[in-house]
Amino acid sequence: MASSLIPPGSTIGILGGGQLGRMTALAAARLGYRSLIYSPESDSIAGQVSDHVQGSYDDHGALARFAAQVDVITYEFENVPEATVASCEQHKPVRPGRRPIHFAQHRLREKEFFRKSGLGTADYQPVGSEADLARATAFPGILKTCTEGYDGKGQARVESTAELEAAWERLGRRDCILESLVDFDCEVSAIVARGLDGRTRCFPIGRNEHRDGILRTTTVPSGLRPRTLAEAERLGVQLANSLELAGLVALEMFVTRDGRVLANEMAPRPHNSGHWTIDACATSQFEQLVRAICGLPLGPVDVLVPSRMENLIGEEANDWLRYVSDPTARLHLYGKATARPGRKMGHVTYVLKSDASPSRS
Ligand SMILES: Nc1ncnc2c1ncn2[C@@H]1O[C@H](COP(=O)(O)OP(=O)(O)O)[C@@H](O)[C@H]1O
Ligand SMILES: [Mg+2]
Repeated sequence: MASSLIPPGSTIGILGGGQLGRMTALAAARLGYRSLIYSPESDSIAGQVSDHVQGSYDDHGALARFAAQVDVITYEFENVPEATVASCEQHKPVRPGRRPIHFAQHRLREKEFFRKSGLGTADYQPVGSEADLARATAFPGILKTCTEGYDGKGQARVESTAELEAAWERLGRRDCILESLVDFDCEVSAIVARGLDGRTRCFPIGRNEHRDGILRTTTVPSGLRPRTLAEAERLGVQLANSLELAGLVALEMFVTRDGRVLANEMAPRPHNSGHWTIDACATSQFEQLVRAICGLPLGPVDVLVPSRMENLIGEEANDWLRYVSDPTARLHLYGKATARPGRKMGHVTYVLKSDASPSRS
């Protein structure tokens, strides 16, 4: 472990300039690391709090110059092209590496990988041709594009073959996956860190509410039965080990009405449902990522105080004065210039008294 230790004072390269990169850079700075953001935009919101270089993901010369300036590289979104990661890997270690994004950026591969790793999923079938349409039986279901979907984009709910055909046309006849609709009791996520030595640590499981495909709230403790929580954690750890990753992986899951826990999707990076850890956990998910990729011991994950994270989406962030005036609220704004509908502008973590719901006055 000592030889792969990347000590404070070193520089972490981050592919991507969004809020996850921004919060990683802030956590890295606290531990005495520098961060260098690489992203195609001339100014990124992560670049507001760290150094930044502009470059496209297929400019291998610019990537090599970036890699020369850093000690380790990570990514803050899973749609970085695999070739970009491969290019960086020639110069510096990239953690969590190429394998996790290979699976995470393609929903069909991802589901197959879950099954191979022993994680249960909803029934699914590929939809990429007219013949697949005729074969489809997973109704009612959700048709999802295999690549590039996020926050519920690139998805359509379908009840019949006719609706499936229409939805597939609307999605541009792209490679898709049809998943049967899960009648879930609730959604949860496990965020698991895995160190260079293969040790794992799972953050306490959060209960997530989505609206229109976008995460709205995460609550910890979740109030779920210990058996369900243990199963969710077991699946998260199993996934992290199966990916052999050094870094973080978030696993989104459904808890079905009959008590089963099914894998929905994964992200090999910090996750929106882990933002509560900044204000309410002994180690934040962002610090944990820094620890994992730099070879430091993983930090403790005790819940310091019960909390509920709420996303601020679009215009909701205009209410910032209300949030900063509320003593139970911890406000985080991402520095985005324009509030578009559906755009994540920030979040608030309410720190709760054990028996109370958040004060909204
Ligand atoms: N098979 C399914 N059954 C029931 N609900 C689903 C299913 N797939 C997705 N959803 C709902 O849509 C949300 C977003 O879907 P997800 O697959 O996580 O895509 P993304 O977050 O990448 O947009 C889920 O969190 C869940 O609320
Ligand atoms: Mg999701």
